[in-house]
Amino acid sequence: TFVVTDNCIKCKYTDCVAVCPVDAFFEGPNFLAIDPVICIDCALCVPECPADAIYQDTELPADQIEYLELNEELCAQWPNITELKSAPEDADKWNGVPDKRALLEK
Ligand code: SF4
Ligand code: F3S
Repeated sequence: TFVVTDNCIKCKYTDCVAVCPVDAFFEGPNFLAIDPVICIDCALCVPECPADAIYQDTELPADQIEYLELNEELCAQWPNITELKSAPEDADKWNGVPDKRALLEK
């Protein structure tokens, strides 16, 4: 499966959603999660993310490992998102800010 990681928090550009052929993304207040059961490992979403926030599970940076379980947990409680929407106004300001984990809203 592919995994949404820390830098998506407060960026949530949703460009990833527009290309996913199987609608594997689920939406929270300031983050998206990928359902590992739905994801077909096509990798199409990776280059679309302006925040470079999506990784294959086997290639997760060491400090992003917790996002594997987090994606699975969050997509079970959030609604499916299937279309591109506007990013938060201050998304660019948050792009690249390290360790946003504490800001994740559920
Ligand atoms: Fe969707 Fe492919 Fe990304 Fe998985 S890797 S979330 S199937 S676009
Ligand atoms: Fe998040 Fe990147 Fe998608 S910032 S919403 S994973 S395009």
